[in-house]
Amino acid sequence: MKVLITDPIAREGVDILRQAGLEVEERLGLAPEALLEAVKDADGLVIRSNTKVTAEVVAAADRLKVVGRAGTGLDNVDIEACNKRGIVVMNTPGGNTNSAAEHTVAMMLAMSRHIPQATASMKAGKWEKKRFQGQEVAGKTLGIIGIGRIGSIVAELVQGLRMKVVAFDPHIRPDLAEKLGVELVDLDELCRRADYISVHTPLLPETKGLLNKDLFDRMKDGVMVLNCARGGIVNEADLYAALKSGKVAAAALDVFEKEPTTLENPLLGLDNFICTPHLGASTREAQENVAVAVANQIAAYLTKGEVRNA
Ligand code: NAD
Ligand code: MLT
Repeated sequence: MKVLITDPIAREGVDILRQAGLEVEERLGLAPEALLEAVKDADGLVIRSNTKVTAEVVAAADRLKVVGRAGTGLDNVDIEACNKRGIVVMNTPGGNTNSAAEHTVAMMLAMSRHIPQATASMKAGKWEKKRFQGQEVAGKTLGIIGIGRIGSIVAELVQGLRMKVVAFDPHIRPDLAEKLGVELVDLDELCRRADYISVHTPLLPETKGLLNKDLFDRMKDGVMVLNCARGGIVNEADLYAALKSGKVAAAALDVFEKEPTTLENPLLGLDNFICTPHLGASTREAQENVAVAVANQIAAYLTKGEVRNA
């Protein structure tokens, strides 16, 4: 049986698939037409966030039995189309949780201390000590929207930085929040109290555009906003207006409505905006974890019919 890999995964994962007796074909960065051709004789498909498994791709994949996402978000997979064809969809939640949480905290500190802007300024030959005065995070309140795997670790980490944490999550058990030292509040109260707001939900119909003009208006003046979860949860046009007006003092995004994002995105022209190109899970550790997990899961399914989700 053949497994097609269309987004880069760590070598350890590829080795596991081969050791399980599966034929592996790595075809990275395929154009949509080429993907339709490549997927025709694949029994398994391994992806990250770049490959879009649309209904058209599913229809072209005559032999496909399993799609494995080396990572968490499944918003790039048409799950309904897969279900209709009996194709199992797996992800590897947990393998990149630490990395995404650490990246969020790194972005929060970088934004507070203007580290990307100061680096660019020094590299342009300047020494602008006054321009880059920042603010401490200690004593400030972080509002976390979505306190699941990543949100929980962010909450733990920032308490080490002496921040207070409030969170909004309609699905979390109050005793779990209490154990984390987090106060559960509704979204309005979170907006009223938070100095920083970080979103950690999946992209769902109810979270698409959740951070929009209406929500920014309910936040404190000078709030700082982060999205290291999924592009589209923050409405970028509304964020741009809020950053321009100063309502939002600064924002940090790792994920975008359209990826890859180019200089056409006006956010990239703002001094009070910092960004990374979807790097939340891009550490050696996370990539090894998710590659090994997805490979074991796919091998178990194709060779033994076992369904596992790490
Ligand atoms: P998770 O499922 O463990 O947690 C998500 C939480 O969001 C859950 O507790 C859920 O109850 C909550 N939630 C759902 N709808 C909500 C709503 N309307 N309002 C408030 N809370 C809501 O997921 P996770 O593993 O923590 O991942 C979180 C997000 O981070 C996902 O979008 C995932 O794709 C993304 N992610 C991004 C990167 C990256 O590279 N930037 C890496 C890993 C994960
Ligand atoms: C995820 O949802 O796991 C992230 O998007 C990580 C990634 O694959 O880049």
